[in-house]
Amino acid sequence: MKNAIKKAAQAIFYSTKTIALTGAGISVESGIPDFRSPGGLWERYNPIEYGTIGAFQTNPEKVWQMLQEVSYLLARARPNPAHTGLGKLQELGLLQAIITQNVDNLHREGGATSVIEYHGNAKTLSCLWCEQRYNSDELGAQIPPRCSCGKILKPDVVFFGEPIPIRALQESYELASSCRALLIVGTSGEVTPANTIPETAKRAGATIIEVNVEPTILTGYVTDIFLQGKASELITELVSEVETIMPNN
Ligand code: APR
Repeated sequence: MKNAIKKAAQAIFYSTKTIALTGAGISVESGIPDFRSPGGLWERYNPIEYGTIGAFQTNPEKVWQMLQEVSYLLARARPNPAHTGLGKLQELGLLQAIITQNVDNLHREGGATSVIEYHGNAKTLSCLWCEQRYNSDELGAQIPPRCSCGKILKPDVVFFGEPIPIRALQESYELASSCRALLIVGTSGEVTPANTIPETAKRAGATIIEVNVEPTILTGYVTDIFLQGKASELITELVSEVETIMPNN
C-alpha cells in the first residue's frame, strides 16, 4: 500500500489539474451511514418508497420519517480527516474542485473552497408550492417542517427522478473532461449520471485514483491506483506523502 500511496501522491503533485469525486463513504466516519453498505440507508428504507420525488409528492409525511433520522445525524456530523485532508490539498493548490454526491455540507465545513454539490445540500429546504426557501437551522423541531403557507417543506437535495442542477452537471463535465488526475473517495459508482464522471476523466487521459474500503464497479474498469482502506486514514497518508514531495520540504 505504501507504494500505491507514493504513486498516487506523485500523480496528484505532478498533475496540472486534479479534481475529486466523493460519495457517502467519505462521511461514514463522521457518523453518517452510507446507502448501500450493510446497514446502509437503503437497507432500512426502500428507496422506491422513500427516495423518489414521486414518493415525496404523494406521501411527504412518510418520507419525513426517513428524513428525520438523516437530519438528526447531519446536525451532529462534523468533518473527519478525509474532509479536512481534501481541504488541505485545495489550500496547497493541488485540488481544483471537489464534486460531491453528498448533501451533508462537510466538505465546506472541512475547509474546502471549491465544491460542486451534484445532489444539492440538505442545509436548505424549499416549498414546492410557493417556492419559499428556509435554512435548516431556522426551522424548529417540528417534523415534518412546514412552510408559512402550510405545506410540507422538501430539503434542497436531488431525489431519484429529479434532474441534477444544470450548473453542477455542466461544471462537472467540463472539469472531468479536462482534468489530469481524478481522486474518487467513498462512492460505489452505482448511480448515474455521477458515475459517468470517472469514465469521462479516463477518456480524457486522467490518472484515476480510488479510495474505498472495498473494490467497486469502478475498480476493475477505470481505476489506475486503488487505495483500499478507510478514507480518513488514507487521505491523511496521501496528503502527508504529497507534502514530502513539496519543494520546501
Ligand atoms: N472509507 C472509504 N470508503 C467507504 C467507507 C470509508 N470509511 N465507508 C464506506 N465506504 C464505501 C463503500 O464501500 C461504498 O463503496 O463508500 C461507498 C458508498 O457507496 P453508496 O452507499 O452507494 O453511496 P454513494 O456512492 O455516495 O451513492 C450515490 O446514491 O442513493 C443515492 O443520492 C444518493 O448520493 C447518493 C448516490
